[in-house]
Amino acid sequence: MLIAGNWKMFKGAHEARQFATTIRHLPERMAGVDVVVCPPWTSLEATIAGLGKSAVRVYAQNVHWELEGPFTGEASAPMLLELGVTGALVGHSERRQYFGETDETVRLRAESALEAGLAVIACVGETADERQAGEMQQVLERQVSVLPRHERLVIAYEPVWAIGTGLTATPDLAQEAHSFVRSLHDAPVLYGGSVKPENAAGLLAQPDVDGALVGGASLDALDFEAICQAAAQAA
Ligand code: PGA
Repeated sequence: MLIAGNWKMFKGAHEARQFATTIRHLPERMAGVDVVVCPPWTSLEATIAGLGKSAVRVYAQNVHWELEGPFTGEASAPMLLELGVTGALVGHSERRQYFGETDETVRLRAESALEAGLAVIACVGETADERQAGEMQQVLERQVSVLPRHERLVIAYEPVWAIGTGLTATPDLAQEAHSFVRSLHDAPVLYGGSVKPENAAGLLAQPDVDGALVGGASLDALDFEAICQAAAQAA
């Protein structure tokens, strides 16, 4: 089981460091659960410092495919590795919706990050309109087909209509989508979209749900711990 907290654009360096000291002992109490946090760029170093020797791993929220160059606003895999960052999210729906991320750039980011030695959580998922139009499978097929096969690649299924909305896929809907993603790719599949302490156990109990990518609830130490606990019970 993998529980990854996506902090999005929350927690500056000072707050991140304090939060890291609060959660750094989590893995010792959670047998069978890998814990990851994804702070914003400016808080990566402070989070790593606050975690000390903890088994909690730190991933970035994005990574560029070139090693260096004139790419304003971006950071490369070697730059992240130098800080002690061990992985990155790619293709989050907020990147796709607001920052022009495409399947092709997601592919480039994932491939070069894996090649450089980072782990990757690649996000896929349909919008409400696509689901209503009966296009869920088509969308997932398109997004998953570009992802490389690699032992350090994990897929996160995040239905866009469930992100930050409080609407969660029911465990049955999640299972159905996860088993479809599984039929396309052999990577572990995390569920994401309004995962909370109240719904985590039901989602994580599904046979094809290998963990969760948690946004809002990962900003609160007690909520995040409760979700890790649910994962330990399901592991
Ligand atoms: P949420 O975000 O848990 O706040 O819905 C999930 C995500 O965007 O990864």
